[in-house]
Amino acid sequence: MLARSIQSRLPQATLQLTEIPLTVRRDGSGPLHLQLAEQLREGVRDGRLRGGHRLPSTRDLARQLGVSRSVAQSAYDQLHAEGWIEGKTGSGTYVADVVPLEPAQATPRRPKPAPPRPLLTLRPGIPYVEPTADAGWRRAWREVSAQPPARGYEDAAGLPALRTALAEYVARTRGIACGPDNVLVTNGSAHGLRLLLSATRRPGESIAIEDPGYLSAVRAARNHGLPIIDIPVDSDGLRVDLLGPEPAAVYVTPSHQYPLGGRLPVARRNALVEWARRTGATVIEDDYDSEFRYDVAPLPALAQLDLDRVVHLGTMSKMLSPSLRLGWLVASPDTVDLLAAHREDTGDWPSWPVQAAVLAMLREGYLDQLVRRGRRRYAERCAQVVDQLSPYGEVLGRDAGLHVTLILPAHLNDRTIAAAAEAAGVKVAPLSDYRRSTPGPPGLVIGYATPTTPNLQKALTLLTKVLATS
Ligand SMILES: Cc1ncc(COP(=O)(O)O)c(C=O)c1O
Repeated sequence: MLARSIQSRLPQATLQLTEIPLTVRRDGSGPLHLQLAEQLREGVRDGRLRGGHRLPSTRDLARQLGVSRSVAQSAYDQLHAEGWIEGKTGSGTYVADVVPLEPAQATPRRPKPAPPRPLLTLRPGIPYVEPTADAGWRRAWREVSAQPPARGYEDAAGLPALRTALAEYVARTRGIACGPDNVLVTNGSAHGLRLLLSATRRPGESIAIEDPGYLSAVRAARNHGLPIIDIPVDSDGLRVDLLGPEPAAVYVTPSHQYPLGGRLPVARRNALVEWARRTGATVIEDDYDSEFRYDVAPLPALAQLDLDRVVHLGTMSKMLSPSLRLGWLVASPDTVDLLAAHREDTGDWPSWPVQAAVLAMLREGYLDQLVRRGRRRYAERCAQVVDQLSPYGEVLGRDAGLHVTLILPAHLNDRTIAAAAEAAGVKVAPLSDYRRSTPGPPGLVIGYATPTTPNLQKALTLLTKVLATS
């Protein structure tokens, strides 16, 4: 019908092959019918073929090109299926009335200028990652590779066996009495936080965040349109006494305040949970590096006090590598169900092989081994850093984690010092970058985990030279 109406609107002569010089190559350039189809498509795109233009019959086309009729028919079938041509065999085939759009071209990004020379890094965040795969890592992946892929989408809350293993792990290492229904497997703490905000918070509600605090948490709150209430931090962590009735949630790093390094003492923990019970707020506990404590055993998690009010975020990022993108969220079963239902829509849960590998690592005791190894390595490095930086200021957070904060004399500008360190070849993070409205002394946040042992010393030598002349 449509073909006939185009035909009556635009009576056209049948395409002569001289107008579109069709050719077929038998040199491995691809199936003949697809070669033909592409040349006809190109004719429509560049305007040589217009809506209503009659195409030769498949018999004529085949004869003229010296191909079988089924090749010509397949080319027309292809173009017909895509909507470039209309009409039925027998009543004529016509070019459809389409306005061709140029297909998108891959546009290469302009290459970024190469950094002048590789910088040593003392920025916090990334653990030391072994340069070669060790036996525990290989064993876990061998175990995964021996299994066929999971059949479906799997459980949006995470693999049931992994949730059970993680519940046992956080009960044993963090003192949280919980079961698999309390655990949701995440793509890391940052993802867990964002998921929680997307699924539970309403625009206009506010969130209290430590100041200075974790920039990624600040960005997450901003992206979700949540006004942020800055809560000052002292050497014991969050000033719980300064929390008012307004926030619907508070983000806190009780085991190792990020970045100043304090740990929330039991009286403040109790006060925080009581505040949450009174106001109905949610406490978001980011437990990002609590495995690494050098003075005493890891402190119990805040979530052990109340899983209805506290949501606990854990991660593999510091124990093994952030590249795994795997973490866990521990909360009430209702919260876990709500988040899992949210994820049913977004589909953003960790892939089955990664979950299966982490399950194998937990079962084999590999994670415990990594923590023991890391604790020894980082304790030594922490002592080395404290030793070399102490002459330049007060070193905070020296008992735990993978970074310390060097508090500098008040007259110094930490951003200027970080820039001078970078010019000397070493990257450090100025404390001012983590501050929002609460003033405080300048400082440098120094991660000591990432470099190799010789590079750590080189970086410290460069940094102390900069500090000595500042
Ligand atoms: C305070 C804090 N929380 C969490 C993380 C880890 O986040 P993720 O698990 O998303 O890698 C980091 C890493 O640098 C961090 O510093």
